[in-house]
Amino acid sequence: MTARTAFSLCVLTGRLAAAVLMLPVLAGQGVLAGYAHAEPPPGAPAHAPAQNWSFNGPLGHFDLAAVQRGYAVFAGVCASCHSLTQVQFSDLGGMGLTPEQVAVLAASWQVAAGRDAEGHLTHRKALPDDALPKPYAGPDAARAANRGAVPPDLSRITQVYPGGADRVYALLTGYAPATPHAGVAQPEAGFANPYAIGHRTAMPPPLRDNAVAYADGTQPTAQQEARDVTTFLAWISSPHADDKRRLGVGVVLYLCFLACLLVILKRRIWSHVEK
Ligand code: HEC
Repeated sequence: MTARTAFSLCVLTGRLAAAVLMLPVLAGQGVLAGYAHAEPPPGAPAHAPAQNWSFNGPLGHFDLAAVQRGYAVFAGVCASCHSLTQVQFSDLGGMGLTPEQVAVLAASWQVAAGRDAEGHLTHRKALPDDALPKPYAGPDAARAANRGAVPPDLSRITQVYPGGADRVYALLTGYAPATPHAGVAQPEAGFANPYAIGHRTAMPPPLRDNAVAYADGTQPTAQQEARDVTTFLAWISSPHADDKRRLGVGVVLYLCFLACLLVILKRRIWSHVEK
């Protein structure tokens, strides 16, 4: 057997081994696919339609203009009930803001600053290294203000919420058309929404047309606001995703380059061996 045949045999054996190793994985996927097609239990949330997000896939990226608009929706609407405890104002610089713009943005929020000499709670303008303030002092206050439901922290919501960004968007836009908006007395059983567990949620429909004014002139329809705030929440869940993707693409290109070099090198080294 010549050296080259031996080499080819090695490669073939390697491929066979890889194929055998992949079998359980493929079988597992089959099992999971079967499970996904099983009849869902009653009250299970409807399947959220897949959206065409710019940040989807290994080559995706965040549309920072949409992220900034989404921040405006969060600050103007969601922040009255939901916290973002994992986020400091300085993190928001990653939306494409200069340190000066971050300082101005932080100063538009008030944070607790202890008690004064008479024991009254005092507040001051937030600084860039402050965390975003929570809307409620604690879970009891949150429950009291929301009929027993605690609005979840949204710092990582698109990663921890089953269905991710698609389902957050579907939930925000999925209320029955006749459902009244936030501020209207909440029905005892909650608001009808096919994307909530049990098809009811304690969250009043938070969005409506013109709920915020966009600085870039985009029309603030309820759909647009839902899209933008979901983009913001996906970005804040994983603010370094774009850097990681860029690094990943670089590594793959480098490995391809290295593989080409190694093929050339191998051919040179084995060139004097007869077939
Ligand atoms: C009036 C208060 C209020 C506002 C404003 C509000 N929410 Fe909520 N939200 C809630 C409450 C209460 C819940 C918990 C619902 C439940 O457990 O049934 C909730 C739950 C959620 C959930 C999880 C849903 C689930 O099924 O558990 C998401 C996602 C969410 N809110 C996003 C948002 C976004 C985005 C905004 C801003 C556009 C927003 N909320 C504005 C009160 C609010």
